[in-house]
Amino acid sequence: MKIIKVHNKQFQVHITKEQVDNRIIELAEIINKTYSGKNPLLLSILSGSFMFTSDLMKKITIDCELTFMRIKSYAGLKSGGDVKILMGVSEEINDRHVLVIEDIIDTGNTIQQIFHQVKKYNPKDLKVMSFLFKPEAMKTDYKPDYVGFEVENKFFVGYGLDYDGHGRNHPGVYILSE
Ligand code: IMP
Ligand code: MG
Repeated sequence: MKIIKVHNKQFQVHITKEQVDNRIIELAEIINKTYSGKNPLLLSILSGSFMFTSDLMKKITIDCELTFMRIKSYAGLKSGGDVKILMGVSEEINDRHVLVIEDIIDTGNTIQQIFHQVKKYNPKDLKVMSFLFKPEAMKTDYKPDYVGFEVENKFFVGYGLDYDGHGRNHPGVYILSE
């Protein structure tokens, strides 16, 4: 589908399912090479990164573990300042190689707060892989370690990303039509 409607807004395809699939293979390969023999703990940030995490996991061939953190930071189309942690991490992080799996980095506010929280548990190494990254929207000098796609400072849905709870189900990424 080239155009979709979510709530009252129209979105058009920006990254196709095929492009996503190809990039996932490359990202998984980075993880397989970087974390071989390190038994990394993948820390997936719910809800947005559920699809990304699932596809990525299927292409990871090394020994690894997976856990989740649930947070909420967005209402509608605008990034809110405060990040609410609804479900914390329970697995032992101390001395582990931790890779945070995020759906999208917009202002960088959310990932900074997550980073700060996880650091408190003293991981051996803490890195971030984000499916999408909006460099122009960044309000800090934070940079994710690994990025699926850099995108412009617009609003996107699909592949786990939502607009007020809807649109997560589409297998590609869609951009808001002006
Ligand atoms: P940040 O704190 O401004 O970096 O916002 C990050 C969070 O806002 C992400 O984890 C998403 O849940 C949400 N978000 C940011 N940009 C978009 C977008 O374009 N579409 C859907 N959700 C977004
Ligand atoms: Mg998110």
